[in-house]
This record gives sequence, C-alpha cells and structure tokens, in this order.
Amino acid sequence: MAPRDSIRFLRRGVIVALRGVPPTRTVLDYLRLEERSRGTKEGCNEGDCGACTVAVGSLRAGRLVYEPVNACILLMGQLEGKELVTVDDLSADGQLHPVQQALVDSHGSQCGFCTPGFVMALFTLYQSGRAPTRDEIATHVAGNLCRCTGYRPIIDAAVAACTGTAVDRWAREADAAAARLSALDDGQDVFAGTPDSFIARPASASTLARLSAEHPDATIVSGATDVGLWITKQLRVLPKIILTGGVKALHEVKDAGSHVSIGAAASYAEATPALSAIDPDLGEVLRRLGSTQVRASGTVGGNIANGSPIGDMPPMLIALGATLTLRHGKAERSLPLEQFFIAYGKQDRVAGELVWRIDVPKLKANEAFRAYKISKRFDQDISAVMSAFKFTLDGRRIAAARVAFGGMAATPKRAAATEAALAGASLDQPATWEAAIAAMAQDFQPISDMRASAAYRMEVAQGLLRKSLMEVAGMGLTRVLGGRQSVA
Ligand SMILES: Cc1cc2nc3c(=O)[nH]c(=O)nc-3n(C[C@H](O)[C@H](O)[C@H](O)COP(=O)(O)OP(=O)(O)OC[C@H]3O[C@@H](n4cnc5c(N)ncnc54)[C@H](O)[C@@H]3O)c2cc1C
Ligand code: FES
Ligand code: FES
Repeated sequence: MAPRDSIRFLRRGVIVALRGVPPTRTVLDYLRLEERSRGTKEGCNEGDCGACTVAVGSLRAGRLVYEPVNACILLMGQLEGKELVTVDDLSADGQLHPVQQALVDSHGSQCGFCTPGFVMALFTLYQSGRAPTRDEIATHVAGNLCRCTGYRPIIDAAVAACTGTAVDRWAREADAAAARLSALDDGQDVFAGTPDSFIARPASASTLARLSAEHPDATIVSGATDVGLWITKQLRVLPKIILTGGVKALHEVKDAGSHVSIGAAASYAEATPALSAIDPDLGEVLRRLGSTQVRASGTVGGNIANGSPIGDMPPMLIALGATLTLRHGKAERSLPLEQFFIAYGKQDRVAGELVWRIDVPKLKANEAFRAYKISKRFDQDISAVMSAFKFTLDGRRIAAARVAFGGMAATPKRAAATEAALAGASLDQPATWEAAIAAMAQDFQPISDMRASAAYRMEVAQGLLRKSLMEVAGMGLTRVLGGRQSVA
C-alpha cells in the first residue's frame, strides 16, 4: 500500500486531513495561526508553563483516553489518528463546561493567562472518571503554572468538578468518537513531503527501520519533549522528521515474567504502571519527572536516546541491570544499558539506528532497590543528582551492589569503586559502609553548574548512599513515598 501524504485527525467531530504540513509545524502554531483558534495561549514555548495545554484523545485497548499535552512542543504529525480538543471547544449554547464553571465559582482565575491551560488539564482529569484527592490534583496540574491566583482555588475547582462521573458532551459522544478514531486507524504509513523535506509516521516497524536507515540525516522523534525545544528555542531547521509513535508494537509494555519489556515509543504514562510495579521508588521518581503533559508525550526511549547525563531514567534502569536493544534496518543488537553512554554527547548508536526496546529485570526476593531524585523543585525540575541503588543480599550481608548516578559525570554512570567496596558489607554494621561511601570520590569528579556545586553533588551523593543503606537495614529510616507537602 502506498503511503498516505496527509495527516488526519479528529477535530470537533469531523476528520481533518492536512496536506503540505511543514515537518516542524507545532500544534500551537497550527491552532493560533492557521485555524485561528486563539484560546490556547503561548507562554514559555518550551513545555514548562502549561498555558498551551490541549487535550489529545486516543484509543488505549479500545477505550478513548484524553491526556493533557503541551501544544507548543507537539508536532502536527503527532496528531495523526488522534482527537484534538482545545479550550475553544468547551462551552456550548452559552453554557460553560463544568470545569470552567467550577473555576468561576471558586475564583480560580485572575489575569487569566494560565486559565485555558488549567481548564484543559482539568478537562482531562474530568474525563478520567476519577474523583481525585487534592494531592492527585496537585500532581495532575504540576505542569500548569499560575503567577497570580494561587493554587488553592484552582484545586477547589477541580475537587468540585471532578466528581468521578463525566456527564458532558465528550462523555455522551465517547462511543461515536472512539468509532471514528478506530476508523482512522487504517495501518497506513504516512509520508508527507518530498525525499528532501518530509514528516513520516510509519505504521509498521519494518518501514520505520527502513526509512531511518535510508535517511540517517533525519531526526527521529518520539514524544518531541526534547526535540520540540530544538525547534522553538534553538530555531533548528529539521527538514526530515521520522516519528516512531505510529508503530503499535513500539508502544507495548510487556510483563515477560523475569523482566518488563518496554517498546521505545511507550510514553511515560504508558510505562509507569509496569515500572512502578518493579519498585515504588520508580513510580515516585516518575511522578516527579516533568509534568503530566510531559509524561503523556515523552518516552523512556527518548530519555535514553538523548544521552543526557541528567536524564532521570538511565540511572534507575542501569542499577536494575536493563538491556537496551537497538535496530538498524533489519539488524538488531543488544547491550547492557550502561555501555550505550560512551562520553558526553556520544552514544553507541550510528546515524539511522533506532532505540528499539528496553528490557528491565524485575527484583528478586533477595534484592532491594532505592532511587532518589534531588532537584530544586519537587515537581517538573531537572535533577541536580539522580541516584539509584540495587543491593543483592545474602541474609544481612551485601553480596553485590549496582550503584548508578546521573548529574555526577558526563554520562549516566555506574560507581565501580563504590560497588566493589559494598561487597561484603554488613547491614548491621554501619562502619562497614564507610569505605564505599568514601570510594565515591574515586568514581566521580562532578562539576559545578547552575543546578549545584561540585561539593554539594558529592556530599549529597554520599548522603544518598548512606540513606539507602539505612532504609534497607531498617535503621529507623523508613521510605518516604508521596512526599509532597499536601495542598490544604
Ligand atoms: C518541561 C519539561 C520537563 C522535563 N523534565 C524532565 C525530567 O524531570 N527528567 C528528565 O529526565 N527529563 C525531563 N525532560 C526531558 C524530556 O522530557 C525527556 O528526556 C524525554 O524522555 C524525552 O523523550 P521524548 O520521547 O520526548 O524524546 P524526543 O524529544 O522525541 O527525542 C529526544 C532525542 O532522542 C532521539 N530519539 C527519540 N526516540 C528515538 C528512538 N526510538 N531511536 C533513536 N533516537 C530517538 C531524538 O532524535 C532526540 O535526539 C523534560 C522536558 C520538558 C520539556
Ligand atoms: S507555552 Fe508554556 S508549556 Fe507551552
Ligand atoms: S491567573 Fe494569572 S497566571 Fe494564573
């Protein structure tokens, strides 16, 4: 079947088919400049403030799910096969939507600049059919910044509106919308443009791998939560975009018995349940990774492929002993994840080769895991130090350890000297931990930058190793999960 040259999505009950879309056109620019729907605002234009939040509907296991997404860093090609709902669509016949009315009733808006984004974030919570707690609401809107109103009235509005039962137009028309989305899902590859400038969204794994190998100069895009900023902030010209998101198999998150297998296009939202089931610390870090909007688009695969020394996932996955599978054309190869990161900005990946799958071993009965993210803000902040520890225990003795850090070196990195010094240490004798804590100075020579000084990084890293050992030893330190200050 020849590829389709248009991008199709559902908008206001109608299927829109667009031809000639520039490869890097964002949904925010499309809305404001072409559709002229200007309710959706541009604030930061880098995924941080949430003013541009729109709802994107997609089918998950046959069910229609709405997620909040930052339109400023969402590419038009990523809308293929989805439904787009914006703040301009909500009120009807002079009646506000229940979340809008609740914001009015709770005095949840002052200057109003953030309000369309909050409305759409709350719209997706309303559609979820949950009656969330205040803490869950705070997590849900952590990616929506308000400078003037304050969050209490906004959270009051969410409590009032999100009662667990959606009774709006979208709830009434959910079956019809799901049927339309299902009809859009025709399994056809999309290739819109010319061989020199295009956006491609292959539907099959083989086309994705072939196209990427044929166009090693193309930019591979999964969630665009990094690439989007290259476009909006660095003004990079990216003539060839290949999206991974159309390949269903790459969204799969499979429980394979001894390990969890995560396809490279699985978003954080898709991967979180399986990862959190390995250990609650993974869930706790994921809850603080970016925002609900970033987690709806961003992928574990993109976090690895970008090679950042401060990405949150690599240290946790390395400590767990994850294996990375790459694909180039028809050839696949696998390697321990830590070997992928060679040097700053350099990974073991040739142009045109794709991050394909990550296999994450589950914990065995005699293994204990801890992970801690240290950042200036609780929510939506990049780590100053990201740490992860896996201890293999022989009774109360540490038989082996895997320790990995982000923010301490030019790549996510294992602490070889620390691991060696931990072997044989006793959980009951803290004095036997000291050599390992001191050995961290052999493993890392961190730098000072805007996030933290070198001295702070070293001190906090050593403190985190001690904390993990105290928690695992049961020495009066219990694990803190859900550590947000509650929003009263
Ligand atoms: C507001 C905001 C907050 C953030 N907060 C955090 C945070 O707290 N912690 C954190 O770690 N990160 C954070 N990030 C960074 C980003 O969200 C993550 O790195 C994310 O995992 C990137 O995934 P993606 O799918 O969006 O990648 P993309 O933007 O699609 O791609 C990123 C890079 O990977 C390449 N790539 C993507 N998929 C593949 C593939 N399958 N094969 C080969 N190459 C590929 C791309 O070419 C590009 O070089 C934040 C970003 C934003 C905008
Ligand atoms: S404009 Fe700030 S997140 Fe998009
Ligand atoms: S009401 Fe002004 S920024 Fe929120």
